[in-house]
Amino acid sequence: MALLFGGAVGAAALRSPLGRKWSFPWAATENAVRDGLPLTALILARLGAAPGQRIADVGAGAGYFTFKLARVVGPHGHVLATDARADACVRLLYERARRDATNVSVRFTLQRRLMLPREQFDRVMMVDVFAFRQGLTRRNRALLRQAAAALRPGGLLLVAADTLHTTDHVPPYGGRISHDDARPEEIVALARAHFELASLDASPASPACQPERGRSPGYVLALRRRGARAA
Ligand SMILES: C[S@@+](CC[C@H](N)C(=O)[O-])C[C@H]1O[C@@H](n2cnc3c(N)ncnc32)[C@H](O)[C@@H]1O
Repeated sequence: MALLFGGAVGAAALRSPLGRKWSFPWAATENAVRDGLPLTALILARLGAAPGQRIADVGAGAGYFTFKLARVVGPHGHVLATDARADACVRLLYERARRDATNVSVRFTLQRRLMLPREQFDRVMMVDVFAFRQGLTRRNRALLRQAAAALRPGGLLLVAADTLHTTDHVPPYGGRISHDDARPEEIVALARAHFELASLDASPASPACQPERGRSPGYVLALRRRGARAA
């Protein structure tokens, strides 16, 4: 029954994964264009995932990183994919079932609350989640505090903000989630109480990855949670 249900949901999800607003690239769990981007290689290099790790993929969308990382962490590791959109969670559950990815779990969360268990993760990643808003210092600080609480000492928080688009790109949020995200320097400054800077890179440009008009180029920021153990 569960399989039948999963199949029905999945078929609908595949035909029109998350609606028109979810056009390229985040609607695709497998995406050859993204696979070839220097940005993707940079994100994975800075994340440094390894077998046995526990990773939280916050704002996982269709699970582009979730299922790649599930293969990396292997049977002794785990990836928790969260999203604040119910339709994304349905898609993630379908993709999980389709792949029989038993080391992946899915959680529906709120935008302002990461809702992650304490000190469980070696890595927390937020790729193009745009959760850190320019000027919203208290809110940004609270998100960083929550990410720190979820990480084991020495664990990494990776935040990447970018604009991937092609000529048929449609803004994915229909205006409901702003792309007006905070600058990485603001995030680093706010994170000081819990994190030290591990790395900060400007996104490598490529034809499919360029700043949107009027926006600064993207970045890949890695913050290491302060504490005894390096992970
Ligand atoms: C642009 S998509 C990126 C998806 C995925 N990280 C990727 O790189 O393919 C952003 C996703 O983050 C989700 N999201 C935005 N803010 C969130 C938050 N505070 N917590 C959890 N999910 C969030 C959105 O619903 C959406 O599915």
